[in-house]
Amino acid sequence: MVDELDVSFGGIHALRGVSLSVPLGAIYGIVGPNGSGKTTVLNAVSGFVRSSGGIHVLGHSVSRWPSHRRFGLGMARTFQVPKISHTLTVWELMRMGDHGRRDRAWWKETLAPWAAAREERETRRRVGDTLESLGLDTGLLDTRVQTLAQGIIKMLDVARALMAAPTLLLLDEPTAGMNEAEIANLAQRLQALNAAGLTIAVVEHNIRFLAGACHIVAVLHVGRKICDGRPEEVLIRPDVIEAYLGDVDTGFADPSHAPENQGRPAS
Ligand SMILES: Nc1ncnc2c1ncn2[C@@H]1O[C@H](COP(=O)(O)OP(=O)(O)OP(=O)(O)O)[C@@H](O)[C@H]1O
Ligand SMILES: [Mg+2]
Repeated sequence: MVDELDVSFGGIHALRGVSLSVPLGAIYGIVGPNGSGKTTVLNAVSGFVRSSGGIHVLGHSVSRWPSHRRFGLGMARTFQVPKISHTLTVWELMRMGDHGRRDRAWWKETLAPWAAAREERETRRRVGDTLESLGLDTGLLDTRVQTLAQGIIKMLDVARALMAAPTLLLLDEPTAGMNEAEIANLAQRLQALNAAGLTIAVVEHNIRFLAGACHIVAVLHVGRKICDGRPEEVLIRPDVIEAYLGDVDTGFADPSHAPENQGRPAS
């Protein structure tokens, strides 16, 4: 995904020579203390910050591409703090996620209203399917997003990203604001989507989630990668514990769910 990536903000060197390889078909966790550069990796891959080094998305070298062209390859992302207007309903948010996937030519509304109506029905079906795939209530469509609990808003932001029908999904701390049941549900739903072919790179602090859901975990510390590998190996390393974890119970679930084809680079 990234090769010798460097990002600076004025005098702050946010990333120094970070290389991360996300295999096609994997759930890839990125972990590290606050300010270690996790979000900056996702921003660089998305084309939201200037960077030097290589960036590869789904077989393409995209370092010089604008964001929209990178997303056009089949990438979608969520944000650490969901960027959702106060006035949006769930239906409007889901339609935003669908934007760009379809040909919404202006003339269809007037010259071919039957085609526009068919598209609308198709979008409603996809919205329903997407919400159900995450265990979300399809009765929420007319509800304003900001009236919902934080855990549900974070889940809706994942649903919004899935509406783009991505091949590669980037998630930035999706469990923040979720309770234990919601975190377990998210892990299970992401594993099901992954089993159906979705490659996922997820920034997370929640060790149980990382240990239970991820095939590979990379650890960042002050803008550098300390190590990467299988979570049960990485999360017990003394240098990782010293940098980040402290004396915590990693609560490993069985992490023996290696992806089918870890050999092929997704990005
Ligand atoms: N737009 C920006 N302008 C200036 N500095 C920035 C900007 N974005 C990030 N930084 C700095 O870069 C470093 C890495 O930030 P980043 O947000 O990537 O960390 P993070 O690992 O995602 O942290 P957290 O766990 O708190 O979300 C920090 O020192 C941060 O202050
Ligand atoms: Mg962050």
